[in-house]
Amino acid sequence: MNHPEELKQLVARAALAYVPAGVVIGVGTGSTVNCFIDALATLQPGIVAAVSSSEATTARLQAHGIAVRDANTVERLAVYIDGADEIDPQGCMIKGGGAALTREKIVADLADSFICIADVSKRVAKLGRFPLPVEVIPMAQAQIARHLRALGGHPVVRAATVTDNGGCIIDVHGLTISDPVGLEAEINQWPGVVAVGLFARQRAHLCLLGTEDGLQTLRF
Ligand code: A5P
Repeated sequence: MNHPEELKQLVARAALAYVPAGVVIGVGTGSTVNCFIDALATLQPGIVAAVSSSEATTARLQAHGIAVRDANTVERLAVYIDGADEIDPQGCMIKGGGAALTREKIVADLADSFICIADVSKRVAKLGRFPLPVEVIPMAQAQIARHLRALGGHPVVRAATVTDNGGCIIDVHGLTISDPVGLEAEINQWPGVVAVGLFARQRAHLCLLGTEDGLQTLRF
């Protein structure tokens, strides 16, 4: 069995084939994306710039000399490349394990296509084993937790976490997510929710999955 780190390297390098030369791309957040950023720095000819989904990603991109553009200066991105905490057979994902879900959604919304890079441990038949992250405005935390309990979940406020947007994260355990699109829409409408880490409306178009047998390319 390949080491998880090797699988991350595998999918990170494979993603370079989907990066057109001379464009601005969107870059996600997490340890798999960190491998991608390191690989991106070696790409010749390279990209013009990136729109970043977190302060951590911005710092890593800039450390490699890759220019970072403000999302407000960009009308569209050819591609957004990011990891996931879970991905289902339709390309719906749970994201936000790294607390960057809101900016990830903003950047993904600018992109024509979403390429998910992940190791095989992230592939699931049904979403929900990984606790669903929800970014909330702090004053709404208790009420949103009540709403989440009414849905059958067990909300836990993530300790010592303030997002790049000044929000807090509630991780929801024990949800059975049989309708990702519907659940995303429902949670989104509660006052004080900044974003929910369900990427169902903005599902992946393609997933580069690192497996013990090598690279698998899943199209949705
Ligand atoms: C960041 O907030 C998340 O959405 C990440 O995409 C997710 O946690 C995957 O991270 P790893 O690549 O570190 O597993």
